[in-house]
Amino acid sequence: MNLQLVYEGKSKRVYVKDESTLILEFKDDVTAGDGTVRASAIGKGILCARTSAYFFKMLEIEGVRTHFIEFDGYRRMLVRRLSIVPIEVIVRNYAYGSLMKRMPLYRILQNLDPPLIEFHYKDDVLHDPLVLPEDIVKTGLVTENELKAIADTALTINRILTSIFSKYGLRFVDLKLEFGRDSSGKLLVADEISGDTFRVIDETGSHLDKEVFRKTRETGPLLKAYIELAKRLGIKVDDIAAPY
Ligand SMILES: Nc1ncnc2c1ncn2[C@@H]1O[C@H](COP(=O)(O)OP(=O)(O)OP(=O)(O)O)[C@@H](O)[C@H]1O
Ligand SMILES: [Mg+2]
Repeated sequence: MNLQLVYEGKSKRVYVKDESTLILEFKDDVTAGDGTVRASAIGKGILCARTSAYFFKMLEIEGVRTHFIEFDGYRRMLVRRLSIVPIEVIVRNYAYGSLMKRMPLYRILQNLDPPLIEFHYKDDVLHDPLVLPEDIVKTGLVTENELKAIADTALTINRILTSIFSKYGLRFVDLKLEFGRDSSGKLLVADEISGDTFRVIDETGSHLDKEVFRKTRETGPLLKAYIELAKRLGIKVDDIAAPY
């Protein structure tokens, strides 16, 4: 099939399938530091695609509306074609990452219960700045009611993921979500849900997410962490070559 590539991002290629659907292809590329550090980790794309498909299926089962339609089992996901709201929605259960820079009085991994929700404007040049809920409404990106619905959905997703992770002995630190509108204007959860977009730590405090790459800048430990995460969740990994 001849697919038209419409966008190549840092971690995925986006192809148009037809008027209302896209194919997201998960690449092996991994980046950190706003795209300044780059590497390729063989198997990473498949692991992130499988992890994302796993969570989107779980969310759909729980009644959360997402862009997910179908997964090929490897690196391609068929999704509903949306108009993405250029806002990253971050849900934080424990203090980490950019929150520590923004507000250094937090203790690292301080329990934030009830979770914090942050909104960032998606703009690489501005480094995705934190914005107020009012900024999003007053600039017309979404209505007040839509923003409430987005925040509610983000918290629902956070509860679902918290419960899944805790079943497997993992602590859910934080998560980044994207939302988009379909042709009827309905808001759906978009993009991906994987170790690239959430942080999760095991019993020993080890990260099973992209933090491993941010810290070590090495792909071996990252793949090991992603394989371990997938194994815990019962996701197929036997066709992925372990780094060592
Ligand atoms: N259902 C969807 N419909 C339309 N676009 C989508 C959908 N799901 C995800 N996207 C967009 O597809 C792109 C996926 O590529 P990738 O995640 O690699 O981008 P990126 O490098 O992170 O850049 P950015 O997210 O800033 O555009 C993102 O721009 C994302 O917003
Ligand atoms: Mg992205």
